[in-house]
Order: sequence, then C-alpha cells, then structure tokens
Amino acid sequence: MRLRDEIPPDTAAVRHVHTQAFGRADEARLVDTLRERGEAVVSLVAQEGGAVIGHVLLSPLDAPFRALGLAPVAVLPEAQRRGVGAALIREGLARARQAGWEAVFVLGEPRYYERFGFSAATASGFSSPYAGPHFLALSLRGARLIPGEGSVAYAPPFQELG
Ligand SMILES: CC(C)(COP(=O)(O)OP(=O)(O)OC[C@H]1O[C@@H](n2cnc3c(N)ncnc32)[C@H](O)[C@@H]1OP(=O)(O)O)[C@@H](O)C(=O)NCCC(=O)NCCS
Repeated sequence: MRLRDEIPPDTAAVRHVHTQAFGRADEARLVDTLRERGEAVVSLVAQEGGAVIGHVLLSPLDAPFRALGLAPVAVLPEAQRRGVGAALIREGLARARQAGWEAVFVLGEPRYYERFGFSAATASGFSSPYAGPHFLALSLRGARLIPGEGSVAYAPPFQELG
C-alpha cells in the first residue's frame, strides 16, 4: 500500500471508495464539490496493486486561526482494519503541519480519533453547529488553541450532508 496525492484520473475511484464505505453518495458528492471549489487542500489516496482503496480530504475552515477540517475519510470495506485509514490520517496531518496550518478539526468517533491526538477538550471552547462530544480538535503547532471570539464553521457544502 502506498499513499500519494490524488490526481485527476483518480476522481471516479475516489467517488467509489466513499460510496462503498458510507453506503450512500453524499460524501462522494461532498468531495467532488470541495475539489471543484478549490478547497481540497490535502487530498491523499491509498493505492494498492494499482487500485485506490482509501482517500482522505482536508479542507479549510472558517476559524480564528488557520484550521482545516478532516473530512471525509474512507477506506473500501474489504480493506478496512488494516491500518489504511490511520496511515491516511497521519500523512494528512503531517502534510497540514508542513504547510503551516495551525489546527485540524474533525467530527467523529473519539475512540478512533484520539489515537491521532485529537480531543474533544481542545475543541470544546469553540462554538460550532457540531459542538459536542464528537467534535474534536488537534493543535499542530504545540500551541494552545484559544477560542477568543471565534467560532469554527465548515464550508457551505458540508451543510448539504445529511
Ligand atoms: C473510519 C475508517 C476510514 C477507518 O479506516 P480503517 O482503514 O478501517 O482504519 P484503521 O485500520 O486505521 O483502524 C481500525 C480501527 O478503527 C476502528 N474504527 C473504524 N471505524 C470506526 C468507527 N466508525 N468508530 C470507532 N472505531 C472505528 C476499528 O475498530 C479499529 O480499531 P482498533 O485499532 O482499536 O481495532 C473506515 O472504517 C471507513 O471508511 N468507515 C466508513 C466511513 C467513515 O465512517 N468515515 C469516518 C467518518 S468521516
């Protein structure tokens, strides 16, 4: 398995990964929309034997500092639980850190995302429609994330997700 940047010929395979993993087309459409809007800041595929088996996207949030949202991430059902998702997330976070982003937020299962350093406590000071135990954040630059007046808002295409 190897990780690499998504390239234009991957579009259909990336769509397939999300549709299979989520059992619906909403996340695949979200990826298409974010890509079209130029908001796919980090878009990585996991490739095995010439096939795309996983994908992760990170896109900009409207936040009091330079922050990305990690979403969606998906691995083909038959390739899950082999560390592909973790590898995609770790590499995605490394890319974000290298590019100078200060924080990453994710909406997901704490038990899964805490292993990458995300925590609900870090996200808890920020107002967001997603605020709650599944709204997690990770500071990439070692600094405490100070909420200040700020809220954390996802780009409009996320509002179309059911
Ligand atoms: C979430 C997902 C990307 C993980 O990919 P993966 O390659 O299976 O993940 P890894 O092999 O790195 O990690 C497997 C671990 O994740 C856990 N895990 C996977 N999905 C989980 C979930 N929804 N909730 C809690 N834990 C989950 C497994 O129990 C396993 O835990 P363990 O290491 O303690 O045994 C994959 O399961 C997937 O595509 N799911 C459907 C889409 C989805 O829900 N995406 C996340 C929301 S955007």
